[in-house]
Amino acid sequence: MIKAVIFDLDGVLTDTAVYHYQSWKAIASNFNYDLSEHDNEKLKGVSRADSLRFIIEWASASVSSDQIPALLKEKNDHYLRLINDLSQSDILPGVLDFLNLLEANQCKKAVGSSSKNAPFILEKLGLAHRFAAVIDGNGVKNTKPDPEVFLNAAEKLEVNPVNCLVVEDAPSGIQAAKAAGMKVIGVGLDLQGADLCVSTLTGLTWDQIQNI
Ligand code: BG6
Ligand code: MG
Repeated sequence: MIKAVIFDLDGVLTDTAVYHYQSWKAIASNFNYDLSEHDNEKLKGVSRADSLRFIIEWASASVSSDQIPALLKEKNDHYLRLINDLSQSDILPGVLDFLNLLEANQCKKAVGSSSKNAPFILEKLGLAHRFAAVIDGNGVKNTKPDPEVFLNAAEKLEVNPVNCLVVEDAPSGIQAAKAAGMKVIGVGLDLQGADLCVSTLTGLTWDQIQNI
């Protein structure tokens, strides 16, 4: 039985993936590397520091460790400028109805995100008060595909991981959910390993969730 749902943020509650992509593309251009959308798929769900490590590796760039903090700051400053106008109108289709459905069935809700900007974004979307727990990139040692973020959320909600359902849009997040022993809905096309794949959260029913 599902007693709690743990939501990824970027790409599930709102579509910030495009802003992460634009910001990383600007960083990659410093190394004369044209970051493709295909590359970007591999960065979804991955922490800021790990994402930079991947890009440096793909670009075969030589970057000393003392340049890293400035590059991370440059990326985040760019990203924050792009998301400055984020508001309730940027909540993805089906999300509000799905949250209402869970509340009507006394199902607990949390956010489990790799992003250090998660609390700020949830405020901008007007969604912060809808979650009993928010576990984000500020509070975990190992980010997705490690299960830590989802296990911490389950612990905070006081729900056994087998009774938790994760909603994810990234391969790294689906791996993390599975490693946590949880069921997972993949939002997007053909997400390998998901128990159910949907294009949006629109129209999901309580029975569907329980029989996943
Ligand atoms: C994840 C995104 O949710 O958070 C990644 O899918 C991003 O693209 C990661 O790199 C870290 O985000 P932030 O906001 O801490 O840089
Ligand atoms: Mg995501």
